[in-house]
Amino acid sequence: MSWTKEDLQELVKTKLAGRLFIVVSNREPYIHISSGDEIQCVVPASGLTVALDPMMRACSGVWVAHGSGNADRKVVDAKNRVSVPPDEPSYSLRRIWLTKEEEEGYYLGLSNEALWPLCHVAYTPPIFDEADWNTYKKVNQLFADAVLDEVGDRKAFVFIQDYHLAILSRLIKAKNPQVITAQFWHIPWPNPEVFRICPWQEELLDGLLGNDLLGFHIGYNCDNFLETVNRNLESKIDYERSAVNRGGGITLVRPFPISVDFDRIARDAAKEEVIEEMERIRHRWKLDDEFIGVGVDRVDYTKGIPHRLMALDKFLTKYPEYQGRMVFVQLAEPSRVHIRKYKELNADIDDLVEEINWKYQSGGWRPIIYIKEHCSPLAIWAFHRLAHFCIVSSLHDGMNLVAKEFVSSRVDEDGVLILSRFTGAARELVQALLINPYATDDFVETIRKAVEMPKRQRQARMRKLRQSVEQNNIYQWAGNIISELANLGL
Ligand code: F6P
Repeated sequence: MSWTKEDLQELVKTKLAGRLFIVVSNREPYIHISSGDEIQCVVPASGLTVALDPMMRACSGVWVAHGSGNADRKVVDAKNRVSVPPDEPSYSLRRIWLTKEEEEGYYLGLSNEALWPLCHVAYTPPIFDEADWNTYKKVNQLFADAVLDEVGDRKAFVFIQDYHLAILSRLIKAKNPQVITAQFWHIPWPNPEVFRICPWQEELLDGLLGNDLLGFHIGYNCDNFLETVNRNLESKIDYERSAVNRGGGITLVRPFPISVDFDRIARDAAKEEVIEEMERIRHRWKLDDEFIGVGVDRVDYTKGIPHRLMALDKFLTKYPEYQGRMVFVQLAEPSRVHIRKYKELNADIDDLVEEINWKYQSGGWRPIIYIKEHCSPLAIWAFHRLAHFCIVSSLHDGMNLVAKEFVSSRVDEDGVLILSRFTGAARELVQALLINPYATDDFVETIRKAVEMPKRQRQARMRKLRQSVEQNNIYQWAGNIISELANLGL
């Protein structure tokens, strides 16, 4: 039996016993944007927010996040709150405002030029800047102030997300030690050798150990974290319980593989609108090809987009019989575009797409369709359903929810998932065709296998993949975290 929204609601009622439930993250789940005279509410391309929204719909409570939309201020009340989701208000979003300098130092700088490359083994060196670190601490304090204001004198459980807020739990507890905090680290945790180049490693580790519970996607990340603490910080580690005692405060360290709302995606992907969208897409992009591949990613150097394009290039050279018969559609969500490495990546991908298309195009056919824009979930489900195969070729990825979304949306029980071994998802989705994205020749053979796989085998694999995601869905993830806290007797 898989977990449902109702199961989670029941658990929250019994286990959290009237505590206020607060989620904190940098990225907000809904962004308000001015478009002409109208204000549009869009869902950002963030695995984190897409995964947590169903949990918040089930638990109610407050979500504290950075208000990044240009119309965000227009829709909030005096306490900077707005009810979301717009079509079915069920929880409150409290927005925090940052100046350009704060966003630069805390989000672009420390979070995404230092911690992001530090934690992902993608061979992009981190940039450590003292001024960014100071801004990061200042912004963590702004988040702490907003959380403390929401809590007031109530009993609360605060669920902190990710690497943008590594010292938040300490700052909250310094003012209100009664608050219970858990934190989930959505990206990988590297081994101690890698982490030790960070000049603020002790402060970051100590900050994270302010939490009662600390979650990672997989056991390997937990082990790396414990080993990093062991080498750098005065503390006692109980390896059997996977717990750290730092100055009397205990932090449990646990793996919780995150997931998606399988039932909701499956329901939405089966809708008539999606079928109509599939027709529109076929027509607009002239997709009459026998074989359609799809990739859906933020444009990020961890996602291995150039590696995927190079493999497709080599595939068309090695197997020329597929020229004119196969098209790969890459949906690319612009991301962190003010960071130099991302600007370079964008330019590299544009060049590669242009070169590959120039090399093979003939008549009206070209092998790569590169769509660099924000796509609605409806459009994404339509592209998924049109595809014979989906490629996820991350060089390193905490989980990768695109893989789980692809599987959830294939209500027709067809389609092949080509999945990087270096994602957390590869541990669960063993019926996918697993690849090492750096090993181009193997990658090429895997594309061939995907294209030529008989329908019965595709379906058998997809059925198993769907069972796995249905069983281990987002409600189970949330339920496991809440149950773990409840077991602590908090
Ligand atoms: O999944 C990892 C993650 O960093 C999330 O924390 C984040 O929401 C997502 O990638 C997108 O990144 P950003 O919020 O910087 O657009």
